This record gives sequence, structure tokens and C-alpha cells, in this order.
Amino acid sequence: MITILSKYKTVKEKDIKVWFKAGPIDSFFKNGGACVKYKDLQIAVFNYKRKDKWYACQNICPHKLEMVLSRGMLGDNQGIPKISCPMHKKTFSLETGENLNGDLDAIAIYPVKIKNDFVYIGFSD
Ligand code: FES
Repeated sequence: MITILSKYKTVKEKDIKVWFKAGPIDSFFKNGGACVKYKDLQIAVFNYKRKDKWYACQNICPHKLEMVLSRGMLGDNQGIPKISCPMHKKTFSLETGENLNGDLDAIAIYPVKIKNDFVYIGFSD
């Protein structure tokens, strides 16, 4: 089980080696999430329309290791964009991955860019 989580590592802009073309922007829900697959990773992608920003993180919730974060609720915690897991409402910052309402390990987050109406996610390998 720990092995599954260890596959997900936050990618910083400076470490991007691959911009993965995840799909056209209109295939993603506004103010909602979708799951895309990159290699053997499930990545949750969020079109946070109210903030006019895009975010990506691991789809697996570190609480019970369910692949559910893409189905979570987007929100805001004192200016920090967050995702709330649909299972037991653990929340995570979409900027840092930090667990905002508990002591779970941070989730991995990934850079997102929009180019020519397509969504790209940055990976380090
Ligand atoms: S599985 Fe996500 S909060 Fe429990």
C-alpha cells in the first residue's frame, strides 16, 4: 500500500521534463475535477473556473488510499484553493498539497499549463 503512494511526488516547475497533453480544455468540468492517466499514475485535474486557475494532484487520497480526489469538492480555505476528499472530507491545499484539516502526509501536486486550448501537466520523468 505504501508503494502506491510513493509513486506520487510533487513536481516543481524547475524539474519538469515532460509536458503531458491531458486533453482539450472543454473536456474538463468547470469548477470540478477529472482524472487522467499518465504512465501508471492517476492524476486529478481541476478547472477552478471561479479562480481562473488549473491544478493537478494525485488522484489517490492518502487517508484510505481510494482513487477519489478528482471527484472531490473544490473550495477555498482563507485564500488557499483546496480539494476536499468525497469520502471523509479530508482537505488538501492545491498549491502545496498540505493536509489542511488533519495530520496526513501532503499529496503530490503537479504544474499545469494551458496552450492552444489544451491542458498540459508537468512531470519530471
Ligand atoms: S479516503 Fe479520503 S478522506 Fe478518507
